[in-house]
Amino acid sequence: LVHVTVVVRDYEPADEESWLRCRLLSFLHTAYFDDVWTAKPPCPAPGVELVAANGATVVGVIDVQIAGEVALIDTVAVDPDHQRLGIGTALFNAGREQAAAAGALTIEAWTRDDEATLHWYRSHGFVESDQYLHVYANYYVDAGEPDRAVAGRRPGLRPMMLFLHAPLERENELRKDFTRIHICRRFSRPI
Ligand SMILES: CC(C)(COP(=O)(O)OP(=O)(O)OC[C@H]1O[C@@H](n2cnc3c(N)ncnc32)[C@H](O)[C@@H]1OP(=O)(O)O)[C@@H](O)C(=O)NCCC(=O)NCCS
Repeated sequence: LVHVTVVVRDYEPADEESWLRCRLLSFLHTAYFDDVWTAKPPCPAPGVELVAANGATVVGVIDVQIAGEVALIDTVAVDPDHQRLGIGTALFNAGREQAAAAGALTIEAWTRDDEATLHWYRSHGFVESDQYLHVYANYYVDAGEPDRAVAGRRPGLRPMMLFLHAPLERENELRKDFTRIHICRRFSRPI
């Protein structure tokens, strides 16, 4: 039996494949299940890129972009086999400290409607402010959805899948016409 400790450290380019797998598995049963990336997006300086690593395997990730006094959590994800062990909290605390040291006063995140994630943000002091809708119109879910989403067609092009933004006030009306709608929320807290 080999005991390996999970450590929080800076992301390194050699982590990329393991980083992508960790993020993908973490999102598997969430509202972001089909938000698939095949390359890690850059998080330019002074942004914070941290991983929780079990040996060479990435089991948790956090990227925090910093623009002046506002830090934005781009990605936070913990591999399902390692969730609820405090890894997300350790990544958040380390990311928050580094972002504060870089001058950020507020930290924000946008997320959809997974109860566990909402609970996690709230229990870490985040308060919800803006809300708007993420609407999917998918022919393969309901053949009429794309035509209910777009009025006109470019000749020869048939819309099959669309992703749309809409104001929250239209939620009841849009839920009648579209199967998949998420409320996207901004969470923020003083850093
Ligand atoms: C949200 C997430 C990053 C939290 O990381 P974590 O290491 O699991 O969280 P921690 O161990 O630090 O904190 C645990 C707390 O998070 C919440 N939580 C995390 N996973 C949960 C689950 N599956 N069910 C219910 N609550 C959960 C609970 O409040 C839990 O506290 P509790 O165990 O005392 O009830 C992680 O669960 C995750 O990757 N989720 C899926 C991906 C995602 O939604 N990312 C955010 C997209 S914006």
